[in-house]
Amino acid sequence: MTSTAAAPARRGQNHGHELDRVGKPPPLAMVVFGASGDLTARKLLPALAALGEHGALPDEFAVVGVARTEWGDDDFRRVAAGAAGDHSSRWRKLVDNFRYVAGEYGHPDTFDRLKSVLDDLDDKVGTSGNRLYYLATIPDLFGVVAEALAHHGCNKPGAGGTFARLVVEKPYGDDLESAQVLDRQLHKAFEESQIYRIDHYMGKETVQNVLALRFANSVFEPVWNRRYVDNVQITVAEELGVEHRGGFYERAGALRDIVQNHVMQVLALTLMEPPALMDAQGIRDEKVKLLRAVVVPEVEAVTTMAVRGQYGAGTVGGQGVPAYRDEQDVAPDSTTETYVAMKLAVENWRWAGVPVYVRTGKRLPKRATEVALEFQRVPHLAFGQRLARELHANSIFVRIQPDEGVRLVFGAKVPGEEFRLRSVGMDFSYAQAFPGSTADAYERLLHDAMIGDPTLFIRTDEVAQAWTIVDPILDAWAEDGSPLTRYAAGTWGPHEADLLLARDLREWHDP
Ligand SMILES: NC(=O)c1ccc[n+]([C@@H]2O[C@H](COP(=O)([O-])OP(=O)(O)OC[C@H]3O[C@@H](n4cnc5c(N)ncnc54)[C@H](OP(=O)(O)O)[C@@H]3O)[C@@H](O)[C@H]2O)c1
Repeated sequence: MTSTAAAPARRGQNHGHELDRVGKPPPLAMVVFGASGDLTARKLLPALAALGEHGALPDEFAVVGVARTEWGDDDFRRVAAGAAGDHSSRWRKLVDNFRYVAGEYGHPDTFDRLKSVLDDLDDKVGTSGNRLYYLATIPDLFGVVAEALAHHGCNKPGAGGTFARLVVEKPYGDDLESAQVLDRQLHKAFEESQIYRIDHYMGKETVQNVLALRFANSVFEPVWNRRYVDNVQITVAEELGVEHRGGFYERAGALRDIVQNHVMQVLALTLMEPPALMDAQGIRDEKVKLLRAVVVPEVEAVTTMAVRGQYGAGTVGGQGVPAYRDEQDVAPDSTTETYVAMKLAVENWRWAGVPVYVRTGKRLPKRATEVALEFQRVPHLAFGQRLARELHANSIFVRIQPDEGVRLVFGAKVPGEEFRLRSVGMDFSYAQAFPGSTADAYERLLHDAMIGDPTLFIRTDEVAQAWTIVDPILDAWAEDGSPLTRYAAGTWGPHEADLLLARDLREWHDP
């Protein structure tokens, strides 16, 4: 805490880099489908390079890139080497083992060649038959690749190996039905225990800190329920527009891109019951139990509980920016939503009657992900309303990004003769309390997949339940059941989203 509260004794102690403290995974070969793509270049290779630089990869390690682009091994090695800083000799040494298979995923020959490269790596590099397959390609091909791997016997470890795992990128389906089709395809080829579905939000240190805050402290958990909490708000705000991914975004929209996965995960961790054990099964069981308690909206009621918006031209960070419909690869009459606000209800003993407001949008004033718990007011304010105009409800804000931390807002007396009250804040900042570097989400998740820890990956029943909640909203919007509202880029979203709370005599907490 940075204000009047007692500072932790070890505040300010530099913790170095988190990756210097993690163990080496066992020998393995990682196969990246989509090796020439955007995600591999921007996230996967830099994350692997960081793991390599910090000695968090096994010595017997190789990446095999698979894509159509006609690269040879050396081309791929050059790309991989470029993902790290200049001084990374550890990474460069690993990159010498990397291989590339140019081929179409629909052709069996691609997988014949992949198999012989993997056998060769076991022989020459000592990758020991252990495999980590990463689906960083277009989602329509997830099932095709999984089935081809099984057909070639690659869904099991190679000779002497102990694991073959499949990491699956988002999106996991476009709705419940397509997610179930994908599940059936993957389950024909891999057991559920071999499948690691990525939601990179789960790899963020501060998302996991929600669990520490709630379940390692006796002051918060007793008030974390309907007896004390008035409402919960989750905001995932992006400053960016669609950048170069207009074509992708046109098919997705904010509800599929952010709410079904990231928002639902944050919501589940914020509201779930304490697990008996903080392990993969304990946490995932509680998350899915909570998601089952979220009331599934009626298609007819969507207009009253959800708002969809799209940004028009405006100003962000002092720069003029175009309307969504004027972005590259976006239809001039597009009805894709770039903003969603919803009021959800969680019907269980802990949360019945407490509204959960969630919102996400592109081209909002700043990038910020935050959870706010607003507490009920005191039953009687003996100081009188006139002296308490600047006193807001007690609240806890968990800042997930950026400027990670926790802020507690409460009332204090303003110095002076009158008993005037004002809200003040007590702040905990991650960066101040723990100087040193934490791992990036992809670094942490890749390492977890390599050591076989599925805790931060999404289980099939969680995906299905999250789709069950958002499907009726998608259906209602597909039927044009609620109007598309507009907001100017650089504002906090459409007026209708404010009305959603104003109807309940509440307001959004803007981060
Ligand atoms: N990019 C991001 O910021 C981001 C963020 C979160 C999640 N994701 C997810 O990550 C995945 C990949 O996204 P991306 O943006 O990296 O896509 P991308 O740039 O379009 O890359 C697609 C990759 O798949 C390969 N590919 C496509 N069709 C193929 C085929 N028939 N046979 C063989 N290779 C084929 C491409 O190879 P060639 O180009 O060589 O043909 C390329 O390497 C998607 O599921 C996406 O939703 C991406």
